[in-house]
Parts: sequence; C-alpha cells; structure tokens
Amino acid sequence: MPSLFDRFTLKGVILRNRIAVSPMCQYSATDGVPNDWHAAHLTSLARGGAGLVNVEATAVSPEGRITPGCTGLWNDVQAEAFGPIVAGIEKAGAVAGIQIGHAGRKASANRPWEGDDHIADGDPRGWETIAPSAIVFGGGLAKVPRAMTKADIDRVRGDFVTAAIRARDIGFRWLVLHFAHGYLGQSFFSPHSNQRDDEYGGSADNRGRFLLETLAAVREVWPEDRPLTTRFGVIEFDGRDQETLRDAIDLVGKFKEAGLDFIDVSLGFSTPAANIPWGPGFIAPYADQVRKATGLPGAASWNITQPEQADELIRSGQLDLVMIGKAMLANPHWPYEAARKLGVERPSWTLPAPYAHWLASYRAA
Ligand SMILES: Cc1cc2nc3c(=O)[nH]c(=O)nc-3n(C[C@H](O)[C@H](O)[C@H](O)COP(=O)(O)O)c2cc1C
Repeated sequence: MPSLFDRFTLKGVILRNRIAVSPMCQYSATDGVPNDWHAAHLTSLARGGAGLVNVEATAVSPEGRITPGCTGLWNDVQAEAFGPIVAGIEKAGAVAGIQIGHAGRKASANRPWEGDDHIADGDPRGWETIAPSAIVFGGGLAKVPRAMTKADIDRVRGDFVTAAIRARDIGFRWLVLHFAHGYLGQSFFSPHSNQRDDEYGGSADNRGRFLLETLAAVREVWPEDRPLTTRFGVIEFDGRDQETLRDAIDLVGKFKEAGLDFIDVSLGFSTPAANIPWGPGFIAPYADQVRKATGLPGAASWNITQPEQADELIRSGQLDLVMIGKAMLANPHWPYEAARKLGVERPSWTLPAPYAHWLASYRAA
C-alpha cells in the first residue's frame, strides 16, 4: 500500500503526494473576483508542499454564491483574475483544482464572522434564493427559497458547464463539482429539501437526476485527461442513514458510468436537526465504503489533523488522498511537519528550495 508521501496518478495528472488542501471559502472576493488575498492564501498553501490545492466553492452564477464575498466563475473578469493564481499554485509544484457550485437555499448569507445567517429581506446586499422546493433550511437560514422551474434547472446546469469551460481554459487541472453540504446539488438529492413531484423529485433516481445530468454535461466539456471529481454528501446523520447511504452509493455508481474519476466523500448538512458524531476522521469509513462499492478512488476530510493518522488512512487503503482543511490554515507548512514526523527522507524538501536549503540542518531551540 502507498504512504502519505507517495505520488498519486489519475488520468494525466500526477500529485507529488497524497495531501490535498480541502476547498475553503475565504468570503473575501468582490463581485466574485478573486484578489491578492486569494493569491497569497492559495500560493502559500501550495508552497507548503501539498500535492493538490483546491480553490474554494466558486459560484457558477451570481445567485449561487453563499455570501456576497464568495468567488465566482460566471464572467471573464473573474476568469482572468484566476489566471495568475493557477500559475502560482502550479509553479509551487502543486496541482491546481477548483470546486464549482451553487449554494441554492443557503445562498445570500452573511459571512460566518458576521452572523452566518441569511441577509435580511430588504437589505440590498441580498438576493432571491432558489432550490428544488420552497422549503426553508431553518435556524438562522430562514429565507424561503423559490422552487426552481424546469427552465431554472436547465439554466443552472448550463451555468455549471460554462464555469467548467472557464476553469478548463484558465488551466485548472482538477475539477470538483460541489454536490455536498446542503447546497444546490445536495439539496436535490435530499428529501429534506426536495419534495418535487416531477422527474426531479420523489424516487432516489429522480432526486439524483439534476446531479447526474449536470455531471454528464460537464464531462462533455472537461478534458478526458483531467480528473472530473465531485464532493458529495452520502450521509446526513438524521436517522435514515442506511437508506441515504445506499441511494448515494447507487448514484455514485451512475456518476462513474457518466465519467466521474474520483469522489471526495462528505456529509449532507441538509437539516439543522442532524446528530453528527464529530470525531477524528469520522467520515473516512464512509469514504472507504463508497470507494469499495463503486471502485472509484476517493478521499475524505473532517478532523484529519495528525500526520500519523493521515498516513495510516492511506497505508490501510481506506483513502487515496487525505483532504486537509483547518490544519493547513493553522500551519500552511503542515506537509513539511508531516514529513518530519513520519521520518521521510530529506523532509525540508517538501518546501521550495529557498526554504528547504536552510531548514535541512535547522532545529528550533
Ligand atoms: C473556512 C472554511 C471554509 C470552507 N469552505 C468550503 C468550501 O468552499 N467547500 C467545501 O466543500 N467545504 C468547505 N469547508 C469545509 C472544508 O473543506 C473541510 O471539509 C472541513 O473544514 C473539515 O476538514 P478539517 O477538519 O480538516 O478542517 C470549509 C471549511 C472552512 C473551515
């Protein structure tokens, strides 16, 4: 079995190790355009030694942003601003990935540190939200979305395709479709948010239709030699978990037939009433289950913070990549620290030469 610092090859892409930076919204863009903050943030993470750096959930349309500060990829100004960011990540030796998505009924929210709730009705910073059904999420996300018409569904599917074309043309080499965390893709799949009585609601097949159609349409424009991946919530911790997991695994099998190359297994966040068993690496066993049932390579995040734990998840064959989130914010050089702790040969060379050379013989007092 490989270890954390072995390469990972998928299609035409080679990652230098099995450490991937999980997508993390920065809520710091204006009109969806990334700026110097995103450049510094993402380039630092790439320089820290990760194999794959995923750009945050980037909206396929203005109303698909979670907050007014979220990045977007629905126009050329945004695409152009991403260009040097992609170059910075790749120049540092990491592969540049991007997650594209639509926030659905969780859109039009205040930044987490400004409340994390829906922007009040009448506040000009907010906008109308859309979702499979006019069902509110609850808690601070109290805005009732408008149920999408067939025309809305066609338009949003098309927005995913257009964003994927832009991502392709800018040079991203790894694409993540955001079908997790209660945003639009997940909310079609979940009966908590989808009570439609047309072909997009009801049975598990119908609830999976928007996701499957979107993936298939994106596959047509996304190059064959670049991985097409998704982040998908396969469990809700809402008491009907075996059924959700079974339906999710069925759907991932269909994703694979439609051209999916890799799955980042996550949870649904479709209801505030979920009872989530937070713990170190608690999603990894579900990722293992999905990988084994579908034969797709896969990853998971959530509370993977320790190098030994990350290495063991790879060595035991449970995951192909570990997705690291907050631990990378705490220490962008986490891969270097992991290389040292795991006894990798010449650990400082996880970092670029201007750091690596000096750290080879450096020991903090
Ligand atoms: C600041 C922040 C922003 C996040 N934004 C996203 C996002 O854009 N897309 C996504 O799929 N998950 C997002 N997440 C979830 C992370 O990708 C990750 O799954 C989560 O933090 C758990 O991993 P960790 O325990 O390593 O932090 C975000 C998490 C944080 C802390």
